[in-house]
Amino acid sequence: MSNQWQISIPGSTANLGPGFDSIGLGLSLYLKLTVTLQDEWQFVHVGENVPTNTTVEDHLIYKIAKQVAEQFGKQLRPCLVEMTSELPLARGLGSSAAAIVAAIELANLLCELDLSIQDKLNISSQIEGHPDNATASVLGGLTISAMSEDGIVDTIQVNDIDAAFVVFIPNVELKTAEARGVLPAQFDRAYAVRASANANMLAAALIAKDYERIGCYMEVDLFHEPFRAKLIPQYVEIHAAAKQAGAYGTALSGAGPTLISIIPSEGAEQFVVNMKAQFPTHKIVLTTADHKGAQVLAL
Ligand code: HSE
Repeated sequence: MSNQWQISIPGSTANLGPGFDSIGLGLSLYLKLTVTLQDEWQFVHVGENVPTNTTVEDHLIYKIAKQVAEQFGKQLRPCLVEMTSELPLARGLGSSAAAIVAAIELANLLCELDLSIQDKLNISSQIEGHPDNATASVLGGLTISAMSEDGIVDTIQVNDIDAAFVVFIPNVELKTAEARGVLPAQFDRAYAVRASANANMLAAALIAKDYERIGCYMEVDLFHEPFRAKLIPQYVEIHAAAKQAGAYGTALSGAGPTLISIIPSEGAEQFVVNMKAQFPTHKIVLTTADHKGAQVLAL
């Protein structure tokens, strides 16, 4: 057995508008852990987007890895975990789902659990509470998922999305719990039918790779965006400017506050230059779909 590994997990965007708690897309922004067996637990954080002042016992990755090991009646072996992340915290880019998937991979390798992909989809989605970000971080690509009441995940993966994705990250955090707190507890039937028809058309357009319609249905969510828009800096202005500059469509990335535009791959750099000039207080990043999902390499 090796004594050093690298775990690489893509971040993700969730919902793409009306695919609320169901649709996810792995993005080319990564959480990376270098894991080395040693006699004591130690986390070393390098760069931005990593927790500060966290004890081992309070570390999300340690806590989840321990929980998963115990679920299988095992104990974690101690190790040094060096962590870097391109995923800003609490911005809607799947940082917590990526950390959960990383922790499951850590438990899997330290305890030799031999987890299947289905196990990883189920465990990560159960911990996260919904399968959108978690399945995208496990599998990569675009994932359309449902989780049954007993926590079994079913996913259809759509690969080869021929588009680029631009994320508009504001300089403020928005915790998912707060963004879920503004959502109505119930919808009446006629409203729910319209909301679900838009979600169905988004999923169909994604499978058909009909980019104009993907963009159109991304922008007509009724499940969450109408209630969250007021929490999002420059929500209306970014939608309008992105459309004007040639985006197929723009939606909240997960619970926000990041917005994401899907745009033609050709001309993507120019789109970003244009948006940076108009929204100087946002961090604007060009990404593509990740197609590999969670990767573990022995070093
Ligand atoms: N689907 C989730 C939401 C993603 O919109 O609240 C964030 O966890």
